[in-house]
Amino acid sequence: MSQQFDVIVIGAGPGGYIAAIRSAQLGLKTACIDAWSNDQGAPAPGGTCTNVGCIPSKALLQSSEHFDHAQHQFADHGIEFKALSLDLAKMITRKDQVVKQNNEGILYLFKKNKVSFFHGTGAFAGALDQGYAVNVSPVKGGEPTQLSAKHVIIATGSKARELPGAPFDEKMILSNDGALNISKVPKKLALIGSGVIGLEMGSVWRRLGSEVTILEGLPTFLGAVDEQIAREAHKAFTKQGLKIELGVKVGEIKANAKEVSVAYTDAKGQAHQLVADKLIVSIGRVPQTAGLGLDTIGLSVDEKGAIPVDDLCRTAKPNVWALGDVVRGPMLAHKAEEEGVAVAERIVGQHGHVNFNTIPWVIYTSPEIAWVGQTEQQLKASGHAYRAGTFPFLANGRARALGDTTGMVKVLADEKTDEILGVHIIGPMASELISEAVVAMEFKASSEDIARICHAHPSLSEATKEAALAVDKRALNF
Ligand code: FAD
Ligand code: NAI
Repeated sequence: MSQQFDVIVIGAGPGGYIAAIRSAQLGLKTACIDAWSNDQGAPAPGGTCTNVGCIPSKALLQSSEHFDHAQHQFADHGIEFKALSLDLAKMITRKDQVVKQNNEGILYLFKKNKVSFFHGTGAFAGALDQGYAVNVSPVKGGEPTQLSAKHVIIATGSKARELPGAPFDEKMILSNDGALNISKVPKKLALIGSGVIGLEMGSVWRRLGSEVTILEGLPTFLGAVDEQIAREAHKAFTKQGLKIELGVKVGEIKANAKEVSVAYTDAKGQAHQLVADKLIVSIGRVPQTAGLGLDTIGLSVDEKGAIPVDDLCRTAKPNVWALGDVVRGPMLAHKAEEEGVAVAERIVGQHGHVNFNTIPWVIYTSPEIAWVGQTEQQLKASGHAYRAGTFPFLANGRARALGDTTGMVKVLADEKTDEILGVHIIGPMASELISEAVVAMEFKASSEDIARICHAHPSLSEATKEAALAVDKRALNF
């Protein structure tokens, strides 16, 4: 006998657990299945984001930034101390505790919302007259449990992409998982891929003392970022000591118990050998669908391994939905969450909606980089007439008080209507500042709207107001 539900969610990452909670809030009898376990074998819901992604990386970014400030910035504030030391084991333990708190928080939310949680691997076992059968193989072993429901939401996420010939061993060749758990600061650290993970993880280990070299295949740095902001970022990271080599071609990678060597040719075609204590490979992620039993219901994946869905997250099979990293679109936790809410609402006949034009991106380096909407190069390429306004943090009183004046806010607005088309920030707390831009764009605000809103003084957000004023060439403080 199978246990019957209205909705079964496979995967409890940010997409899945939020879809499960919203489904339950809407009165649906909901099950959520997730296979992730912690070191003790206990359930660890929250997916990549909570266990080996957003949360632990931000914990280490915070800790390493404190260390960096103590070394390089406290003296400017008149704070002196005799000796500074690093307890890496404690830093990693703190990170693990932050993760555990988040895992426990999700289990609590499941209980509170009456979501039935199953700790195991979920796989389709075929279509039924009314819905689908899903088997759960418990992590602890034993007989599978059979569940059935009219609706199934696939939220199985993604995993790190390997370089051919260099599989992750998480000792010498590390994915994001191993990169968050290095027990001794490597003297020399190599990374392949200067995308989001490469820059965030490279920053963590550089701040803790590693000599970091990042090898990037593309000739341009942060190609998806507004070019002016990317140039500023490259300058800042290089000044900090991150060595970023663009346009390289990675060749053979050899690892032994002591070191990793990476053969590569640089942009000029010259051959090099990079020898390091550890190698982090951060060249993107691939959707995770292995063992899901998609074939039992006649679903297949596309050439990228993603489950094809329409704008509403509907797969080719009725009442089978897919969302988050396992489908098209940016691989971001908040995108997955928004899709989770929207799918649950669509199941009960509401009109859940995700605006893909206003999904913010943040890179949590120092300076932080955040943006929403179109870049200047995109507007130029599409021939969209625009006006741009920028304001440097150098001229912002709060940034000076913080002692962090790198970067700027840049506002792009339609030349005729003045509607905001994109906002790009590099600088302190860009991750928080970007929210104002997202709200403005959701409400189709003009740059004039932002320029006329009272912003607290002194605050970093005044830089956004000033950049909006600068669109009309009337910045007040620059
Ligand atoms: P996932 O979080 O991958 O969750 C999928 C879950 O499904 C997992 O728990 C998995 O075990 C489970 N699962 C898979 N198959 C099965 C099965 N058959 N049965 C049962 N369970 C299954 N995004 C941001 O927005 N901000 C950030 O700061 C950020 N930082 C990141 C840092 C790193 C190092 C990494 C790697 C990623 C980061 N991301 C960040 C991306 C973010 O983690 C993902 O976009 C997000 O986790 C996707 O959510 P999801 O629910 O689609 O999938
Ligand atoms: P990424 O797509 O951000 O960057 C990968 C980089 O590797 C690219 O610059 C690419 O050109 C390069 N590359 C690919 N193949 C290569 C090769 N063979 N040799 C050299 N360079 C190569 O992917 P990343 O950093 O692995 O992160 C995966 C995803 O996780 C991100 O795209 C993002 O969606 C998510 N993420 C989000 C974060 C955030 O929101 N702050 C933080 C970390 C990850």
